[in-house]
Amino acid sequence: MSVPASGDDPPSARAGSLGDNPPPGTRRPTMHEGGMSAMSPAGEANSGGAQVWVRGPRSADVGRTVLVWRSTTPARTVLLWRTRSGTPVATDAHCPHRAYLMVDARLVRDAVECPLHGYRFGADGRCVNFRRSPDAQIIGVREADGCLWLAL
Ligand code: FES
Repeated sequence: MSVPASGDDPPSARAGSLGDNPPPGTRRPTMHEGGMSAMSPAGEANSGGAQVWVRGPRSADVGRTVLVWRSTTPARTVLLWRTRSGTPVATDAHCPHRAYLMVDARLVRDAVECPLHGYRFGADGRCVNFRRSPDAQIIGVREADGCLWLAL
C-alpha cells in the first residue's frame, strides 16, 4: 500500500476534464500555497466555510485497492479507492467505530473494510455489515487535470 504525500506542483496548463460530463464553462483549479484552493475544481467559489479543495493523488494512482493519502495542509489522512463503476471515493482514514487509523484497510466489493473489527463502509459512508455503526466521514472528491481534488 503506497502513501504518497500531497504535492505543491501546479496543475498542468491544459484545462482538465471533470468526470464523464464536464459542465460548460469549467475552469481549471487555482492553486494557492500549501496546496489549497479557494475554488473548487469545477470553478465554483467556496462558500466561505472551512473546507478547502486540496490537490490529491494522480487519478491513475487510485483504483480498486485502498490508497492511503496524507495531506499536509490541512493535516489529514484519507483513504481513496474506486467503486466497480470507476467512481472515486474518499473517506477519512479514521474508522468511525473506534477511531482506528485504517492504513491497512482493504476493499471488499465497493466497501472499505476496517481490519480491526471488520466493519465495512460503502461509498456513501454507511456501514454495510453492522446496523448500529456510525457512518464513515465521506470527503468530497472530483477529478480534474489528471488528479483527484479533495474537499478537506
Ligand atoms: S475500529 Fe474499525 S471496526 Fe472497530
